[in-house]
Amino acid sequence: MYSFKEKYGEYLSAFEVRLKRFYEELTCRPQILDDSLKYSLKSGGKRVRPVLMLAAADLVGAQNCGVEDYALALELIHTYSLIHDDLPEMDNDDFRRGRPSNHKMFGAGNAVLAGDGLLNTAYYILFERCADGKLFADAAKFMCGCAGVTGMIAGQSADLYCAEKGIKDGDMLDFIVANKTGKLISAAVAVPAILAGGKNFLELRQFGEDLGRLFQLVDDILDEEGNFEHLGKTSGKDKEENKLTYVTFYGAEQCRVYADIMFDRCLKMLEGIDGDTRFFKDVVSFVRYREG
Ligand code: IPE
Ligand code: IPE
Ligand code: MG
Ligand code: MG
Ligand code: MG
Repeated sequence: MYSFKEKYGEYLSAFEVRLKRFYEELTCRPQILDDSLKYSLKSGGKRVRPVLMLAAADLVGAQNCGVEDYALALELIHTYSLIHDDLPEMDNDDFRRGRPSNHKMFGAGNAVLAGDGLLNTAYYILFERCADGKLFADAAKFMCGCAGVTGMIAGQSADLYCAEKGIKDGDMLDFIVANKTGKLISAAVAVPAILAGGKNFLELRQFGEDLGRLFQLVDDILDEEGNFEHLGKTSGKDKEENKLTYVTFYGAEQCRVYADIMFDRCLKMLEGIDGDTRFFKDVVSFVRYREG
């Protein structure tokens, strides 16, 4: 019988096997580089992006395309983005995934290098897959676009800029969220579609973008109302850092209304996709009602 928890666990275990193989094969010199890279990778987190990718591969029939490597690359990129996001020059967060942030353990310089190292290694993994043919290269290219200067980096840049300048603007807010969060989540579900020759690409990409918005709405609400025990990161930071977020712009009450609208939109998007989308419907609930 289908159980969301079990299914999530299955995808998670499959991903963790690939991740473990990766860091067991990786030995970096000097030791501090090795330690700092692995510190953040082994800290866990929900792994929602790789889980989504493996589930999307099941949905579109891209299970045997080395999709675990794309999931690995995506989680490396996501982890690097968190290491840099926590730096004093960005969000100045001392905790991540229930442990001191990378820069608190290893210093800011080493944290910058750990992030750079994860990003480079992700690209190395993607390049290796490109040799398998055009679809593989297209999928890698799509992921790079989502992570780069027209994707996550653009969102992070706008996020910093608005905080520094005290900008409170709804269009900017949408831009920030669509890019800093929406792009990597949409890569998680759109990459398998590309590997499957374009099957449901547009629907899955749009679903990922909507889910990303929902994800960030909840992240912003939790920053306001959540606690360290569940979040593994300090709450109340967005206001402290003068961030332009859904909560600082609309208020938490309005955010809940908006989150319910996004929730329905995500489910509606799934209606347009053939196949068994039960797991995805449950992911939408998981993202909406998570506490951490
Ligand atoms: C945190 O992402 C950064 C945002 C996009 C809000 P996650 O909440 O997925 O972080 P982990 O990987 O579970 O730690
Ligand atoms: C970060 O958004 C998104 C990234 C690309 C890392 P946040 O700054 O809100 O993420 P948290 O709250 O620190 O996890
Ligand atoms: Mg941030
Ligand atoms: Mg942050
Ligand atoms: Mg946040």
